[in-house]
Amino acid sequence: MITLGFNYSQMHDSSACIVRDGELLYAVAEERISRIKHDAGFPHNAIRACLDFAKVRADQLDAVCSGWPAPYHMLLSDLKCFATGQFPINYANVLNVTRYFASMTHQNGGFKRFTQLFGPTKAQMRFVDHHLAHAISAYSYSGLAKAAVVVMDGRGAWEASSIWYGHDGFLDHVLTIPWPNSLGLFYAQFTQYLGFVPNSDEWKVMGLAPYGSPGVKLGDFISPDHGSYKVNAPLLFERKNGTSAIAKRLGPERTPESEIDDSFKNIAFAVQDACEVAMLDLVKLALEKTNCRNLCMAGGVALNSKANGKIQASGIVDNIFVQPAASDDGVALGAVLAPYLDNGGRLPMKPLRHAYYGPEFSDAEIEKALRTFKLRATKLDNVAATAAQMLADGKILGWFQGRMEFGPRALGDRSILADPRDPEMNAKVNNAVKFREWWRPFAPSMLREVAGEYLEYACDSPFMILTNPVRPEKRSIIPSVTHVDGSARPQTVEKDINPLYWNLINEFGKRTGVPVIMNTSFNLRGEAIVNTPTEAVRTFFSSGMDALIIGSYMVEK
Ligand SMILES: [Fe+2]
Repeated sequence: MITLGFNYSQMHDSSACIVRDGELLYAVAEERISRIKHDAGFPHNAIRACLDFAKVRADQLDAVCSGWPAPYHMLLSDLKCFATGQFPINYANVLNVTRYFASMTHQNGGFKRFTQLFGPTKAQMRFVDHHLAHAISAYSYSGLAKAAVVVMDGRGAWEASSIWYGHDGFLDHVLTIPWPNSLGLFYAQFTQYLGFVPNSDEWKVMGLAPYGSPGVKLGDFISPDHGSYKVNAPLLFERKNGTSAIAKRLGPERTPESEIDDSFKNIAFAVQDACEVAMLDLVKLALEKTNCRNLCMAGGVALNSKANGKIQASGIVDNIFVQPAASDDGVALGAVLAPYLDNGGRLPMKPLRHAYYGPEFSDAEIEKALRTFKLRATKLDNVAATAAQMLADGKILGWFQGRMEFGPRALGDRSILADPRDPEMNAKVNNAVKFREWWRPFAPSMLREVAGEYLEYACDSPFMILTNPVRPEKRSIIPSVTHVDGSARPQTVEKDINPLYWNLINEFGKRTGVPVIMNTSFNLRGEAIVNTPTEAVRTFFSSGMDALIIGSYMVEK
């Protein structure tokens, strides 16, 4: 059976993936090909790339699955929320709801576009409920036979959070907390209040939070509720005479790009703290309801690595799997497996051990790109050793190897790398390369073998989706990847999964005694992670990186 899954909601993060006989072959977000960050358009480039990789035509597919239900479900949910006062009836909201319904219905949720672009197919076209798609994406790739599955995002059609019980390849629905009682909505509204882009810049609030202090009360907006949480959505939506209810209580919104004073840092602290409390409560509820100590999570809120780290450190779970493309790009991974549940069937249950499911470029293709730019490149005998020596010498490297990662994190195939021992390196990379906010931390990649030496509560963390406290005695050893609160968001690198990257870190360790490197995504601020060699070269020359190691080649400035 060959199935294709996609995410297309006109909201954010369109994507596609393809599975053959239960094996994930290829997955890519549309933004990486279109170069439009969080691209919300129909993922035609991503679908084309999936079909090309699998060498199949649309008419050879058995099923095409969207990670969203039919458009009228969204309309029904919105009408219900209008009627109950949960969602304000105003010109903008009514216009948006109507426009969305008309547009998505016209396109039949994307299936009409699919057949227009890729030709007629006998494949079954199916809508998959959004949270079911998230839940499958968390459970089926977890490698856990039994698990509580928690989905938390901004919104599905009618869902905000949901709990599922995964067992032996089946997935039972346990409960749904309906939109707009939504943790994602809560976080997004405050992200906007703090001068950032909602449903995009939540990272920035999470990074800023440790610089704040406790004291700001957010009880009007979010509170514990019968072992779960209650978000006061009508108040979060409220705007009178141009002033939001948040601004009325906490002061005027921050102007984007302006200085961040202590009051905003303290609000970021309170938002993150409230989110952590709510997530922990929801997880406890899920474990209780399923009588299980394994946990799988997905949905945009599950990208909150700080909260995930606290859940892991709390000792209430034995095993935790957070699907790395937890946001909506990852619903494609779940939707694509929905046909396996038909007629009492089971999910394939193939553990996701890495995220390298995207495009790859051969040395010949890389060479061609370098020639086009008339660049002088050196062909390296030992890529890992050369890169390790340069890192040890304080160079900032662009690192372009193998297949691109699926999900928001660069995991050593499309990365910018630097020496984590230099306390100035955080500022150097920020100022010269990433051009991003000073408070955003960088993350370490470390050999799996040394994780316990550097981290408290160390566990396998191949996807940089959990934070851990760095052991106090190690904080001064790797200062540029240790956040102000002493935490880090590690990637533990396994030799058999990414041998080249493991070798690089190992070689760096041989030279410095520290088998840990700083790893950030290969992109400039506001841009999607580079996909092709051409984009890598362009980004390299638009920044302060010292050298680009691309396939077997090195380009220096
Ligand atoms: Fe979602």
